[in-house]
Amino acid sequence: MEFSKIGVVGCGQMGSGIAEVAAKAGLDVVSREVSDDLLAKGKAKIEKSLGRAVDKGKLSAEDRDAILGRIKFTTSLDDMGDRDLVVEAVTEDLQVKLKIFLELDKACKPETVLASNTSSLSITELAAGTSRPDKFIGLHFFNPVPVMKLVEVVKTVASSEEVTDSAKAFAEKCGKVPVLAKDGGGFIVNRLLVPYLFDAILVYQNGLATREDIDNGMKFGCGHPMGPLELNDFIGLDTMYYIGLILFEEFKEPRFAPPPLLKRMVQAGYLGRKSGRGFYDYSK
Ligand code: CAA
Repeated sequence: MEFSKIGVVGCGQMGSGIAEVAAKAGLDVVSREVSDDLLAKGKAKIEKSLGRAVDKGKLSAEDRDAILGRIKFTTSLDDMGDRDLVVEAVTEDLQVKLKIFLELDKACKPETVLASNTSSLSITELAAGTSRPDKFIGLHFFNPVPVMKLVEVVKTVASSEEVTDSAKAFAEKCGKVPVLAKDGGGFIVNRLLVPYLFDAILVYQNGLATREDIDNGMKFGCGHPMGPLELNDFIGLDTMYYIGLILFEEFKEPRFAPPPLLKRMVQAGYLGRKSGRGFYDYSK
């Protein structure tokens, strides 16, 4: 089973990146958003990301145009009908995702494999709403998608071996390193990363050190590209909060509970980089 026609539902931070790396790999891509406005914003993200590579001399203008030419932008889910693989990358909300998969299940040909880029919801639960749980898998990319090399391929008890192998091959074709995980809360990376990022917030909340010193500690002491408070801001504080709620619900372990300061910041509209304010000020 080889995926050559790819659909990506959602053209935000993650969806635009997935569409970009798939088109860069020479695949035929359909990218879908709910409105023309969001579609234009998503397309601009892809253009900006490819533009960086052109500016640095790593991509020619002709190749950039060819990559963009391989992506069809649409607001209709019906355009996913002929796809071999459709990756959903919409907001981390179970009900929204379940509804999309119900619609995709109807719109797509029976052979289409459906995948979710969820970072924390159960792939099994998403698959159960469709008529094709054997052709359903998790494909979890990392932000920024064009840069981060990892894709978690998440297999449920119902995912077929053929679909799992094809999903790994797709990730490799997109230039990524696939790792295989079972459908357990947070898979591999968020199961380990989320308690660390929450601990950094607790340490800051308890006044142990300044935010800069907490971040510098991990950057210069452990070689991380970003400190934990910077990374919380980068992922998005609302996203971190919701991931924490989902993982705490699954494991009932305090290390997954969103820290009170994180909750207050989200309530105040401090969502990290995307809102201009989080642990740091990005308004300038
Ligand atoms: N899109 C495309 N390319 C980008 C980019 C973006 N948004 N951001 C950076 N880049 C590229 C740059 O063009 C540059 O490319 P070259 O090496 O080819 O020149 C390269 O990435 C490095 O960028 P910069 O020099 O501008 O900046 P930097 O060295 O500070 O790196 C970073 C930026 C790559 C984001 C780096 O800080 C980093 O790796 N941070 C950690 C990110 C991380 O941990 N992500 C995972 C988050 S967890 C997640 O996603 C899962 C989840 O479920 C929550």
